[in-house]
Amino acid sequence: MSQLDLTLLLEKMTLEEKTAQLMQLATPFYKGAKDSGEITGPLEQLNIDEKHVRNSGSVLGASGSENIMNIQKTYLDESRLGIPLLFMSDIVHGYKTIFPVPLAIGCSWDLELAEKSAEVAAREAAVSGVHVTFAPMVDLVRDPRWGRVMESTGEDSHLNSEFARAFVRGFQGKDLTNDYEKVAACVKHFAAYGAAEGGRDYNTVDMSERELRETYLPAYKAALDEGCEMVMTAFNTVDGIPASGNKPLMRDLLRGEWGFDGVLISDWGAIKEMIPHGVAEDEREAALKSIEAGVDVEMMTSTYVHHLQQLVSENYITEEIINEAVLRILKLKDKLGLFENPYRGANPVLENEIVLCNHHRETARLLAQKSSVLLKNDSVLPLQKDQKVALIGPFAESEDILGPWSWLGSFDEAVTLKNGISSKLKESNLHSSKGCDVESWTEKEIEMAINTANEADVIVLALGEHSEMSGEAGCRADIRLPLAQLKLVEKIKELNKPVVTVLFNGRPLDLHGVIEESDAVLEAWYPGTEGGNAIADLLFGDANPSGRLAMSFPHSMGQVPVYYNHFNTGRPKGAPDAQIRYVSQYLDVPNEPMFPFGYGLSYSSFAYYDATISTDVMKEEIEISVTVENTSERVGEEVVQLYVRDISGEVVRPMKELKDFKKVELKQGEARKITFILNEKQLRYHHADLTYKSDAGAFRAYIGSNSRDVIELPFQLVK
Ligand code: BGC
Repeated sequence: MSQLDLTLLLEKMTLEEKTAQLMQLATPFYKGAKDSGEITGPLEQLNIDEKHVRNSGSVLGASGSENIMNIQKTYLDESRLGIPLLFMSDIVHGYKTIFPVPLAIGCSWDLELAEKSAEVAAREAAVSGVHVTFAPMVDLVRDPRWGRVMESTGEDSHLNSEFARAFVRGFQGKDLTNDYEKVAACVKHFAAYGAAEGGRDYNTVDMSERELRETYLPAYKAALDEGCEMVMTAFNTVDGIPASGNKPLMRDLLRGEWGFDGVLISDWGAIKEMIPHGVAEDEREAALKSIEAGVDVEMMTSTYVHHLQQLVSENYITEEIINEAVLRILKLKDKLGLFENPYRGANPVLENEIVLCNHHRETARLLAQKSSVLLKNDSVLPLQKDQKVALIGPFAESEDILGPWSWLGSFDEAVTLKNGISSKLKESNLHSSKGCDVESWTEKEIEMAINTANEADVIVLALGEHSEMSGEAGCRADIRLPLAQLKLVEKIKELNKPVVTVLFNGRPLDLHGVIEESDAVLEAWYPGTEGGNAIADLLFGDANPSGRLAMSFPHSMGQVPVYYNHFNTGRPKGAPDAQIRYVSQYLDVPNEPMFPFGYGLSYSSFAYYDATISTDVMKEEIEISVTVENTSERVGEEVVQLYVRDISGEVVRPMKELKDFKKVELKQGEARKITFILNEKQLRYHHADLTYKSDAGAFRAYIGSNSRDVIELPFQLVK
């Protein structure tokens, strides 16, 4: 449709139809939906009637091509103007072929494969009838108590931005209008949802505008620069105002300054939540604040349909503001080709053929291999295929390895660790026993596990958090493994056999009680549908670990938040002239994390040498290079990382900031010169007056294998 046609269509709509177009409801509200049950209850809860549903603009959480086609057809049959519904769902890390959780994908540092995973997710979702995915989630995270850290790609704004772009490319492709195997992306949760105080979900976020712009906003902006079609608001406050009614954030910054003219949707119920937040007296005021802020779609509450018409008639708002919101939705529908074909990619035959096909599973397996992080290895890994293995722990045979946001992922399709390992060993060489549940244990279970373990050459302990222990509303104040599992570790350790621990979890954990007791530890996160196969590949050396942490693992819960790009303070610990006591430190634990950002081991070993800088005076750009040698007998991948520190900024600058990285595969014995170009633009930051520029003066570049183990190269920026 042309812009003119869309405007003409808009003109035909009544104000009532327009406000309903802004409402998003879940599938059960719709006739023709396979899960539409008794809808009187839900209708009453929202105080809406069937007419509202008949005019609503989009559907939340529908899946399955036949189901979606049915809903669309029934809806259009009754529709006065024939405006099709938009179907939006949370395809976060896979549709039915589930990939590792995003925090794990972050640890792959593999942008190409991340893009591929989004492409596969989009393909499965699109042929199943979905038009928009509520992803990528790009909230920067520093506090592992927050359950949703597993949905993010971690603590670094550069890495998050790169992944944000990769996911958007994968979901949307190059031609959303004609490529029916792609879906529109919706970046979320704008803004700074990951900075919830105390790591408690939905909690207050409060920071300076400078910090917001410098650290938290870049990844959302990167997604938009890549062409992301939609934005979702966050639940939290930003500078005292809930995001969903935050005019300075949404209308001024997002729409005004950044020029975003796509659809902005509230998070679930977030408009009405402005009442308990304490910035709206009632639903009417909540609706007023949100529409004024520029929020187009209201997800799962009904303040817009109930109050916008009256707000117009009483001249609190103009009809124009509603027209703008409706037009944005119509434009997206048009861009997705829905006016020509309201069923778009929905295709039962293709759905049957490609969803969970071998090719998709292979990509999931590869990404799971690359996302797992080897944290410790005292020469026990890789295992030999003729060893007798005892597989012990609540995750030995658990299918709960898809993660809390896998939505349509089915446990039945998940390859458990036991299944994965059994494909590597003779049947008689593998014995398993649960030992305990995730959060409880009995003497009997532990005894059985010990008996099983006694027979083996090596013990593989499969431990972790069940998926309800992270994700939305899945926050924990104690981020150790549950005591039942720590007890199991203790008992197993007493056998004095080699112990390899594999962790399935959604956040960086406090690993005391696990690390020291294990000879090797592999962080598998929630590895997805092909998890068991991928982990077995790694354990037996059919794949070589190459994951590097995208979020620091604390040394102790009390340090949290602990992240690599912190400031130095005026009294840094360990400085040459530092006092013993009056320095910034804990008396009982180190300042450093247990495992820093960027860290991860491999079965190969890498040496870094000949680090050089083209000139130590930068005018526009400099070249920084290092030779990396694979000093082992095994081909392996290394993530070479480049960090920078501004020694004397106008405001205090982080100790290190990731500026670039390269994931390279090196053959056994191969040495390669890795070169980075660093330019003046990469040294810019937000100054006290919010101007974005660099400062002439002293800098340090750091090049190395993680944020801690680096070679330092000083240089000056001159202007
Ligand atoms: C979550 C969003 C999600 C939405 C729709 C909310 O509770 O915060 O991330 O996209 O539900 O399912």
